[in-house]
Amino acid sequence: MRLLGLLLFLTSPALLEASLRPAKRSYDTHSYYVIHHDPSFGQSPADSAAALGAELVEQVGELKDHYLVRYEKDSQPERTLFNTGDEPVTRSKNVLTRRHDNLPPSIRSLTYQTVRQRVKRAPVPSFPSVDEVVSKLNIHDPMFSSQWHIVNKDDPQHMVNVTGLWKEGITGKGVISALLDDGLDYKSEDLKANFYAPGSHDFNDHEDLPTPKLWDDKHGTRCAGEIAAVKNDVCGVGLAYDSKVAGIRILSGPISDADEAISLNFGYQQNQIYSCSWGPPDSGRDMEGPNLLITKAILNGINKGRGGKGSIFVFASGNGAASGDSCNFDGYTNSIYTITVGAIDSKGLHPYYSEACAANLFVTYSSGSGKHIYTTDVGEKVCSHNHGGTSAAAPLAVGAFALALSVRPDLTWRDAQHIAIHAALHFNPEDPDWEMTASGRPYSYKYGYGKMDVYTLVHIAKSWQLVKPQVWMSLPTIEFEDAAMEDGVMTGGEPIKEGGVRSTTTITKTMLEENNFEKLEHITVKVWITHTRRGDVEVQLISPAGIKSVLGSRRPGDSADTGYPGWTFMTVKHWDENPIGQWTLHVFDQGNSEAGSILGWSMTLWGSAIDPEDTEKYELPDEPNEGHNLPPHPTATTSTSKQHVKPTHHLPGDHASQSGEATRPAFHPTDSKPGTSPTNSPTTLPADEGVFTHMYDLLSNQLWLIGAFGIVIIFGVGAGVFLWRRRQLAKRAKGAYAPIPGDNMPMRSMEGGTGQASGSGEPGSGERSAGGTRELYEAFGVGSDDEDEADEHSALTGGGASRYVQQATVSYHDGFLDDEGLSTAHTSRTPYRDELAPQQDTQSPRREGSDGSGDGSWQDASEPR
Ligand SMILES: *[C@@H]1O[C@H](CO)[C@@H](O)[C@H](O)[C@H]1NC(C)=O
Repeated sequence: MRLLGLLLFLTSPALLEASLRPAKRSYDTHSYYVIHHDPSFGQSPADSAAALGAELVEQVGELKDHYLVRYEKDSQPERTLFNTGDEPVTRSKNVLTRRHDNLPPSIRSLTYQTVRQRVKRAPVPSFPSVDEVVSKLNIHDPMFSSQWHIVNKDDPQHMVNVTGLWKEGITGKGVISALLDDGLDYKSEDLKANFYAPGSHDFNDHEDLPTPKLWDDKHGTRCAGEIAAVKNDVCGVGLAYDSKVAGIRILSGPISDADEAISLNFGYQQNQIYSCSWGPPDSGRDMEGPNLLITKAILNGINKGRGGKGSIFVFASGNGAASGDSCNFDGYTNSIYTITVGAIDSKGLHPYYSEACAANLFVTYSSGSGKHIYTTDVGEKVCSHNHGGTSAAAPLAVGAFALALSVRPDLTWRDAQHIAIHAALHFNPEDPDWEMTASGRPYSYKYGYGKMDVYTLVHIAKSWQLVKPQVWMSLPTIEFEDAAMEDGVMTGGEPIKEGGVRSTTTITKTMLEENNFEKLEHITVKVWITHTRRGDVEVQLISPAGIKSVLGSRRPGDSADTGYPGWTFMTVKHWDENPIGQWTLHVFDQGNSEAGSILGWSMTLWGSAIDPEDTEKYELPDEPNEGHNLPPHPTATTSTSKQHVKPTHHLPGDHASQSGEATRPAFHPTDSKPGTSPTNSPTTLPADEGVFTHMYDLLSNQLWLIGAFGIVIIFGVGAGVFLWRRRQLAKRAKGAYAPIPGDNMPMRSMEGGTGQASGSGEPGSGERSAGGTRELYEAFGVGSDDEDEADEHSALTGGGASRYVQQATVSYHDGFLDDEGLSTAHTSRTPYRDELAPQQDTQSPRREGSDGSGDGSWQDASEPR
């Protein structure tokens, strides 16, 4: 009987149907319940339903013993069974159980089915179709449907998301971007109408127009097309298709540093954005940056370009990832003044060529996983189907900033970086390279703060409140035992043994306040490290909150024995982090037969001011090489000529066909090596510390120290102390500690001193300052690295302060600490109101940053090629 019932039940049409397709629900007319049936009582599910006076609907999908039943709304059986009043128990309680609610034995439970609306996972962008965009915006460009970075049919979540802006009429009007590249085909039908001739120049052939002439002069034209290809009937469209592009041709032959410097500021009141898809070789062996002249040009663009709001320099992160290269070893991308852009492919994956590093701000689309970037090419109506590499990502970022500047021309160069960070989207959340930062934003060396969403970027820009002016805070250089650098040769320092060297420095609230420092943005860290194999060395910075920046990653191909002769690394990973507390530099190597030492390091924080009135723009020294990183081998400061490597040089042929990845960290796990337990090396030489402490205390008690002149003295003291220690010239050092007069020096005289100290070498500056000041100045400011004893004697025997300034300048090249002393000279011009405030803290940094460690991330640690 039971069996029969079961057979009948199993063959009942309702159930047969149920197994195929769910029955139609009628929530308007019926209440639905799910019964958990207990077959052990020999009842069929239909029996159970009947016992409740309900109608069996069907099994609940694939759930064994669960059945959907229903009542007609407010039917008598439902009421009788469950009513305790007017409200059915089940509706307020939702679930009745056999144990508690007196259900028939074959029913374990009965659950009322609430009908509710599920909310889609936000954000659910409505992705426009190509057709929709084409018809709404009247686009006739034949290649538009191939431009997947604008509308991605296959992977709609992976595109720059710009079409919504076009619909709002935001198309880049009034903005000009300059392509520093190998030319720009202004005769192309796709660029002609948006070409801006006055902002263009050819520095290779010295002509007005950036005509592509060599067979492979196609790069600049392709990049320009991504930004501003005209909306017409040729090829595709640029992201900012109503903006203009200028071409500055520099990559098609050797150019001098002077010309490169000119090019970076060319037309810089009209050219607002500079698109730079090039850099030093991405070989994984080079460590190279702009030299001083070029650095000055970039800083000049930052300080004076765009009416003082700053040129926007966008740089491609580099294509050397497959060779183990990192953009922290490229002085252009590793700079606070450039926006470094890496690549992801059409599937949102990391292409194997795109370089990772702590300077990456964000990523956007380029070649990989089988696709290229479609854009304009050289020729009247020629289109490119094989553009790619990080070279192609940077111009998309340029196009995005062009759109942002078209709605907010008042954004400064730092606002551009801020909005980019705010607009970057977290994606590929499973990628192990992501790490949460102290600001609550995930960061990845591969992706920076995420992928650029142009719509979001521009809308954030629209309502963006401008950041307060920039300030910086340079911490005193931490120096290890017997560290010295002469003629570019570094000696002494702390040997990097197993476990590496850890060195710490502390930032206090007082220090921040004294330096008018409100919110952290970039950090630069300058290191002096010797090593017989540079690629074995890893340099990390660890914040008080435990956020770690890999600054110098290991590079398997880098066998240089030149170490890091004052290379400055930059990280954006601590953006908006509270800097108060202990910072640790951790330097370690592979522990093989190769060996090295760390001589010293210094750190500069860059951020926004507490008091915007009390700021001034950072400036580099007037004299070449002052306050600047030492090249490994001193190089001439005269103009030299070099050729930048073609951007495509290190881009492998299969850059588009290879699949990307989102499963590997950018750098090898670094802490997993055995024996990496930290050795707590002294962070500073006791002797040094003592000396510095003494001197700073001394200075801090003397309120007369007003003006940059005082800074000069401090630096002079530093240099002198260093000299003293190194040479053990105890006797002379003693002389150097002659008490500083306690009388208040009148402001006037300080101002005079300021002028003189700025390296002009004007005679008489020493005379104007108080006697004690001069003594100190003479004793320490002497350039000493000159091995010539006579110089040292002259230091003691006096002479005008100007003379010592001069000597210090010379010494800079050789002395490890001398660059600090030196850079003072240039900083002394600084009119900070409070800069002369006495140092309250022995660690108290000087805001001028001119102590050499504050030279930004620019360095010329490489020789011109
Ligand atoms: C993309 O653009 C649309 C408007 O077209 C916008 O609503 C959306 O928030 C943007 N961003 C994302 C991630 O969808």
